Amino acid sequence: MGKRVLLIGQGGREHALAWKIAQSPVLEKLYAAPGNPGMEELCQCIPIPATDVKSLLDFALQEKIDLTVVGPEAPLMEGIVDLFEEHGLTIFGPTSAAARLEGSKVFTKNLLQKYGIPTAKYDVFDDIELAREHLKTYTDYGKAVVVKADGLAAGKGVVVAADYQEASRALDAIMKDKEFGKAGEQVVIEECLFGQEVSFFAISDGSNFVSLLSAQDHKQVFDDDKGPNTGGMGAYCRPPIYTPDLHQEVVDQVIAPVIKAMAAEGTPYRGVLYAGLMITEAGPKVLEFNARFGDPETQVLMPMIKSDILPLLEAAAKGKLGEQEVELESGTCICVVLAAGGYPGAYQKGKEIKGLDSLDPDTLVFHAGTSKKNHTFYTNGGRVLAVVRRGNDMKNLIDQVYQEVEKISFDDMHYRRDIGRKALGGRI
Ligand code: AMP
Ligand code: GLY
Repeated sequence: MGKRVLLIGQGGREHALAWKIAQSPVLEKLYAAPGNPGMEELCQCIPIPATDVKSLLDFALQEKIDLTVVGPEAPLMEGIVDLFEEHGLTIFGPTSAAARLEGSKVFTKNLLQKYGIPTAKYDVFDDIELAREHLKTYTDYGKAVVVKADGLAAGKGVVVAADYQEASRALDAIMKDKEFGKAGEQVVIEECLFGQEVSFFAISDGSNFVSLLSAQDHKQVFDDDKGPNTGGMGAYCRPPIYTPDLHQEVVDQVIAPVIKAMAAEGTPYRGVLYAGLMITEAGPKVLEFNARFGDPETQVLMPMIKSDILPLLEAAAKGKLGEQEVELESGTCICVVLAAGGYPGAYQKGKEIKGLDSLDPDTLVFHAGTSKKNHTFYTNGGRVLAVVRRGNDMKNLIDQVYQEVEKISFDDMHYRRDIGRKALGGRI
């Protein structure tokens, strides 16, 4: 019997996961909840929101789903994995206790410290005046300092502050004005690290893990890493800085110890472990963990995985990864995100998307914020599409992906023109 799979989420990351899962020879039927119109040719989209975990459970029981794969963090934090497992269902993702690795920076920093896993020096405060006093120990010496809300804050809870005033304003926003609600009841104040950022992805079953790949995201909205942060404007994989030696260090000093630590704490980590790392002169240090696949990193990871992904996800969910290995493609992969005018601020929806039918057959397009009416796609979100190419030579690949991007248009479309330039040793 083939596998009946439910994929939860609706972004570009989930379209890329659906594209990969749909290629599995053991798949019988793929559903996405709620999915997006770009995914409709790969799976059946079910109009249940990703956070309606009770309705998702009813659907999974009724449709006899063999494996549920969770894309975004919100249902993980709401305990979807705990709920599904209580009902005997197999689900890929961490329990809510294990998802604290993403959901609470205080939890994670304390865990890293306890187990000697490299990260920035830090202190935790729940009193704003004590926190403010502590800032001076950095800024009196002219050092930059980083202020982080403890909980999830839609990517806006971290401020890398150049001076005392900026850091103090961040404290006010988090602790006094309570911009992020309960997520700001505690803050982490930590030293600023310098280096290149790399994301690394592994899949764990609670005790074993398999390494996938490293990738580099482009978080700021404008070229040369300028402007406000976004969900991610593009990515590429196999950053040259991530050498085999560095990989070994990351595995030995970060990935293996954190999986062991989570098991030792009684909250084994099953799912994707997404490590946000700063590669400093003193070696790799953990900036954060995410308890899910990255977006847009998944759009470049999925095309690089040669093996069937379904047995891998299922084995991890069942705690039986054993000696499973994953076969990867050689070369590299790049993704450019096309965004709506105004994003990451306010933007309009409903602009007709043109040019999708003129693309080269080797180009992949993953939809994020789109809608569809009478065979035409329209914009329906901030990040609209991800244009993806895989190949061997990064320089050619950059040229190819941008040639394809230029064939697509919608009113006020914008995108970064420097995705992948870091891989060529360019200035960033
Ligand atoms: P986080 O959510 O903790 O990864 O922080 C978001 C972003 O803030 C990271 O991707 C980094 O660009 C930056 N950041 C976080 N912590 C530090 C740090 N200690 N030093 C320098 N930059 C940091
Ligand atoms: N690309 C950043 C994230 O998924 O959090």
